[in-house]
Amino acid sequence: MSLFRTKTIDEVGTSQSGLKRCLGAMDVTFLGVGAIIGAGIFVLTGVVAATHTGPAIIVSYIVAGLACIFVALSYAELASSIGGCGSAYGYAYAGLGEIIAWIIGWDLLLEYGLGISTVAVGWSGYAKNALSSLGFELPKALINSPAEGGIVNLPAALIILLIAILLCIGARESARFNTAIVFVKLLAITVFISIAVFHVETANWKVFMPFGWAGVMQGAALVFFAYIGFDAVSTAAEETINPQRNLPIGIIASLVFCTAIYIIVSALLTLVAPYGELNVKSPVAEVLLNLDHRFAAGIISAGAIAGLTTVMLVLYYGFSRIFLAISRDGLLPQKFARVNSKTQTPIGIIIGSGLVMSLTAGFTPIGDLAELVNIGTLAAFVLVCGGVIALRMKKPDLDRPFKLSWHPVIPVLGIIFCIYLMISLPVITWIRFAVWMLLGLAIYAGYGYKNSLAQKQDS
Ligand code: ALA
Repeated sequence: MSLFRTKTIDEVGTSQSGLKRCLGAMDVTFLGVGAIIGAGIFVLTGVVAATHTGPAIIVSYIVAGLACIFVALSYAELASSIGGCGSAYGYAYAGLGEIIAWIIGWDLLLEYGLGISTVAVGWSGYAKNALSSLGFELPKALINSPAEGGIVNLPAALIILLIAILLCIGARESARFNTAIVFVKLLAITVFISIAVFHVETANWKVFMPFGWAGVMQGAALVFFAYIGFDAVSTAAEETINPQRNLPIGIIASLVFCTAIYIIVSALLTLVAPYGELNVKSPVAEVLLNLDHRFAAGIISAGAIAGLTTVMLVLYYGFSRIFLAISRDGLLPQKFARVNSKTQTPIGIIIGSGLVMSLTAGFTPIGDLAELVNIGTLAAFVLVCGGVIALRMKKPDLDRPFKLSWHPVIPVLGIIFCIYLMISLPVITWIRFAVWMLLGLAIYAGYGYKNSLAQKQDS
């Protein structure tokens, strides 16, 4: 028996999952845009510009975007040659062995699970504002967790349960809903850009980097959150038609598109308003309000609510598929690995995890842990890039429909950028991350190692 036992490419990529192949290139690209544009650009940008970067937030977005593009290219190679709904977890199983696969899987569950609960809290804030502007005031006790002086953050808890229901109904239906809502957020961004370009004050860029390069890098590590989600596209491998072609398209197209949007929006935000004024929860809407565009600011708020909804939807989708892959392999209880024969979705996982995430969003001060999402994701990305290099050495003849032409430059650059971003995060985030990883290793030692299907087959 070995911790580094690997699976064959066929074992990872062609598992009989019972999931239905129903998504085309456009669907997966929209899934990517659905997962990417959300709290990062609509909420985080202002705070980061005001406190860490100033107008140089555009540089932070470029650095974080470059890191993601190197990683996305690595993902595309692995998704096209290996596939499987477990995404990076499955690729690692094929290339690096079971223990590394488990570590990546555990990281990804943190990324998606905590990401969903965090975004749900942001969603609740926007929903509360929208309801108050319509004249409905929610009592404070019902929009704050006990640690914040309330009873429960009810909107945050409820939105997760609603999304769970949608995901149980079916992947195709979820993708259609996602596409429709993505249009709302793109409309909001178009409205912002078309108004903001007429109010540019170049004087606002006179002091471009007020917090120095260290601030820009800390900013990059924080706004990295805005890019999280492009990797979730790869979890749709078993539900995508012709995944070897369509997944690389979906991963790269959605990321490049969103990177361009982020650079434009962050540049305009800091050109229209002095960076010091951006330290608010909804900077994109505020800037328009200050320019007296009330109706447009309303559209931005609707776009933000839509944006946060699709982020949760796609991250939740990815979470359930990775959980499915891990439990199918026996590293988590196999009873979770059942796919409902009627809806062809993993209902047990969706409902069970939905309840946990909903309780977390409703009853804990989860917002404080948001940076953990970044570090967990970056760690998984480092291993994904490492996986490309390892697989090239181990299986040079593997059919790679999408192949990195400058190999190994791209995955090496991905590793360097991600590690640089990781070391720009605060020490407390590293400590929390270490606790999460130790918990993961304890679960593997206590459960996964003994119950792994691969180990059982070996012995
Ligand atoms: N990228 C996602 C967001 O910004 C997680 O909300």
